[in-house]
Amino acid sequence: MRTASFYPPFRVLMGPGPTEVHPRVLAALARPLVSHFDPTGFRLLDEIRALLQYVFQTRNEVTFVVSGPGTAGMEACVANLVEPGDKVVVCQNGFFSGRIREMVERHGGVAVVVEEEWGRAVDPEKLEDALRRHPDAKVVAFVHAETSTGVLSDAATLAEIARRHGCLTLVDTVTSLGGVPVKVDEWGLDVVYSGSQKCLSAPPGLSPVTFSERALDAVRRRKMPVVSFFLDIQALADYWLGKPPAAGANAARVYHHTVPIPLLYAIHEALTLLREEGLENAWARHRANHSRLRDGLEAMGLTYWVRSEADRIPHLNTIRVPDGVDDAWVRRRLLEDFGIEIGAGLGPLAGRIWRVGLMGYGSHPRNVAYFLSALREVLAR
Ligand SMILES: Cc1ncc(COP(=O)(O)O)c(C=O)c1O
Repeated sequence: MRTASFYPPFRVLMGPGPTEVHPRVLAALARPLVSHFDPTGFRLLDEIRALLQYVFQTRNEVTFVVSGPGTAGMEACVANLVEPGDKVVVCQNGFFSGRIREMVERHGGVAVVVEEEWGRAVDPEKLEDALRRHPDAKVVAFVHAETSTGVLSDAATLAEIARRHGCLTLVDTVTSLGGVPVKVDEWGLDVVYSGSQKCLSAPPGLSPVTFSERALDAVRRRKMPVVSFFLDIQALADYWLGKPPAAGANAARVYHHTVPIPLLYAIHEALTLLREEGLENAWARHRANHSRLRDGLEAMGLTYWVRSEADRIPHLNTIRVPDGVDDAWVRRRLLEDFGIEIGAGLGPLAGRIWRVGLMGYGSHPRNVAYFLSALREVLAR
């Protein structure tokens, strides 16, 4: 077999993730490797934790990245919080909330589903009602920004209801973190996970997580050890924070697994860029570019899958495929003729919507203008 270096084509990544990566983040990937037990590597871990506390708006000590994509973060949260027989109310309004439900059941939990149409935000009334009917529920789980439909739910209100009923919250912020406000402490969220490849604009493969003290108490009170060795949050914390009582600058870090150092350089740089810009400015930029795109699409006669503007994820636009238009052909032309990648619909929305991301570094007026003109040309054909 003849082998050669692999050079990927240049793509404008405007799908549901991964998103474009800033040149500073790409350059960070090429920095010299140190080991996961190098003292300078420990500084890297501490700085990533502090940057994530800023991005999650939390003082939670147990805030770090799981070595694995968003799905690993999801499973870390479920595996640590859910024991066999635990009742978990899962608000299901799309593909990813369905995946949480499946994980809960695989970990022996009993899922009580609060069902919502694919394209609508989770209804707080329905959650309240389910919790009245299930006073023994331990956890409420929901997806803040449902990437499969483009819907943003009201995380603050859902968390308030959950807490009033004595439940912990398990929240997916894979697509929301960095693009819209996520206020872990102010909203009282308990276990929260995200992904590196959406609005944080780092390469895929890392999942930021944060656990509140209340959640850690519940983990400590488990009757059975966490089934997953790899995703045991306390064992991971013994590496990321150091094992008590030595925690602090010279904490005794306990080996758990060999963390992917170059990816950590990359997320450190991406989070530093976000810190430099300021979270509020990043949220405003995502909203402004959403408005630009929406105005352009509506001028072309295209419509959104999510009816209410208030329920839309600003940076993940779900557009109805117009009648008589071949969804796959349009996406292929955009990719092959213009180098633009957009997303297809998932599950029941396959062939019915396009998913257009304007996330992180890719949330830029240049991308809006380029995409609109390419789409106009393709549709005219
Ligand atoms: C809301 C949501 N949750 C979880 C995931 C899973 O993340 P990953 O593909 O990084 O495992 C995704 C991925 O798109 C997502 O959008």
